[in-house]
This record gives sequence, C-alpha cells and structure tokens, in this order.
Amino acid sequence: MSKLRKKIAVIGAGNVGATCAFVLAQKKLGDIVLLDIYEGFAKGKALDMSQNGQVLNYDGTVTGTSNYEDIAGADVVVVTSGFPRQPGMTREDLIAKNASIVKQVGEGIKHHAPDSVIIMVTNPLDLMTYHMQKVTGFPAHRVCGQAGVLDSARMTHFVAKAVGCSEEDVQAMVLGGHGDTMVPLPRFTTAGGIAITHLLSSDQISAICQRTASGGGEIVKLLERGSAFYAPGSAAAVMAEAVLNDRKRLIPASALLTGQYGLTDVYIGVPVILGANGIERIIELELNDDELSSLQSSGKFYQSQLSEILGY
Ligand code: NAI
Ligand code: 2OP
Repeated sequence: MSKLRKKIAVIGAGNVGATCAFVLAQKKLGDIVLLDIYEGFAKGKALDMSQNGQVLNYDGTVTGTSNYEDIAGADVVVVTSGFPRQPGMTREDLIAKNASIVKQVGEGIKHHAPDSVIIMVTNPLDLMTYHMQKVTGFPAHRVCGQAGVLDSARMTHFVAKAVGCSEEDVQAMVLGGHGDTMVPLPRFTTAGGIAITHLLSSDQISAICQRTASGGGEIVKLLERGSAFYAPGSAAAVMAEAVLNDRKRLIPASALLTGQYGLTDVYIGVPVILGANGIERIIELELNDDELSSLQSSGKFYQSQLSEILGY
C-alpha cells in the first residue's frame, strides 16, 4: 500500500533548514524529518515546531534526528547542511569544508532515500549540486539546486519598490551561477505583464541588477554572523512543493546542462519545469549576445572551479 502522506527530509537543522521545515509544515505538504549532525539540535527544533501544530494548524509530523535510517522513503530531500558565509567571504570560500559535508550527506541519501528528488541549498550552490549528483549517482533530473527562486525573488522585491507596485505583479528572471557571475535578465522581467524596460530607466535597472547580484552579501554584512535564511528557506520549500505536488512550476533552478546555452557538464541556473520527476525540462531562451555571453562566462567559471578545486 502506498503511504498516505508524502515524506520530506531536510538535512541541516540550522537557519535555512529550520526555516524550510517551518514553511513546509505550514504548507501541509507531508511528514517532515529534520536531520542534523547534532541530534539534540534537530530534535529540539522539531519539538518546538511540533508544539506549534495547533496554533498554525499543521497536519503532518515534524521529527528530529541524526540517524539516516529515519529519512528512509523520503520523496524529497532538501540539503542545507554546511557552513554559511561570514562577512568578507565569497560563497566559493566555503568549497573545501562544505564538499566533505555534501559527500557524507550524499552517501546517507543514496543508501536511505534512493528514489528521492534532491534539492540542494548548501553553498557554493552550483558546485555543491554537481558534487551531490556525482556522490549519489542519481540521474541528473533528480538533483537540482535552489538559487534562482531566491535571486529572482530578490530582484522582484527591488523592482516592485522601484515601480511602486505590488510584488505579486512582478515576475523576475535571474539565471547563471549563485554568485558574483549571476545573470539578472531585465528583458525577461515584467510588472503586470509589461517589460520593466518600459517602466524604469536604464540607470534604475542597472542598480537593481547590481543589488540583486550582491543581495546575499548585503545581508551577510548586516547580520555580521551567518547569512540570509527566511527567503532562502522559503525558496527551497517552494521547490519541494513543486515536486511533491507535481506542480510543473516554470522557475529558475540549478540544473546539469548537456549542451543547452552552449554549456556542457556544469550545473548552473536556467529556467526549468519542476515537477514530480524533478527537472522535467530545461527551457532555452533566445538570449541576445550580451546575455548569452554572461551566462556562458558564469558556466565557464564554475567549470574551472569544478576541475581546479573539486578535481572533476
Ligand atoms: P547554519 O550554520 O545555520 O546551519 C547549518 C547546519 O548544518 C548546522 O545546524 C550544522 O550542524 C549542520 N551540519 C553541518 N555538518 C553537517 C553534516 N555533516 N550532516 C548534517 N548536518 C550538518 O547555516 P545556514 O544559514 O542554515 O546555511 C546553510 C547552508 O546554506 C550554507 O552553506 C549557506 O551558505 C547556504 N545558503 C544557500 C543559499 C542558496 O540560495 N542556495 C541561501 C542561503 C544559505
Ligand atoms: C544568499 O544568497 C548566502 O547564498 C546565500 O543569501
């Protein structure tokens, strides 16, 4: 008999993982298992969230653990375990420490949730997503990375403020790697269906693109300890929902490219259809020369990091 409720594992019960679990619980998407290397930390957060069940009216359970056997049968695994940035660090400064965490976590997922769709969050996002796909050996469509939903939401926020309209009416598109080479696309960003190039000056648009690309760093600087987590945790939950409810969302996500946009064997942010099978389709936009060259530079940067630092 198939199980009645979906099961979602969130690896890493820190700021992003706990926020993601909290949003998932409110969305009533299934039973949530929060796994952290520190068992008490995961159990404590899960118990705290469970005691909110009546107040926020969730249906599923939230449990904490450090044992991979408890993620058995998970439909979706969101991976947030790893070190966040501190002021002055780039996401790439996290590679060495987080690559070994991703290896350990990937082996746990491979053995205990072999049919799951993995949504990576750990930074540097595009490199760690590639690494996870190699460690698990899962088909590439079942390993994707969250960055574009967050980066597009940041751009949406800045556009809505500049236009003076509701965020609900803005649709932004940010592609490329989740780092300094990210590629905000004003030509594919609209407010009320109107391209923002008709609503804002080129100076305003450049300032928005710049602030979007450095959006994570702006928050790291303000927080002085750790990085953003409300919007990142929510973005990962929205991706999990797309898979669990087979929503076929058309959103940007980090996906393995096999020739699209002239790039091969690299994970990078592109528009995808996300549904029950994970990445069900990669959409190739007709980019102009500048946009394509920015996306290709971003891909080439990550290809060089994969070979020079991670040895792929
Ligand atoms: P955090 O430090 O609050 O939480 C990380 C958690 O991972 C900690 O609870 C830690 O105990 C756990 N952990 C460490 N090693 C582990 C292991 N081997 N197995 C299981 N759990 C382990 O950090 P935060 O703020 O939650 O960030 C997590 C990651 O997400 C960072 O790498 C950060 O850079 C990244 N991030 C990515 C974003 C994106 O858009 N892709 C946005 C925001 C953060
Ligand atoms: C962010 O963009 C640090 O990747 C994290 O907030």
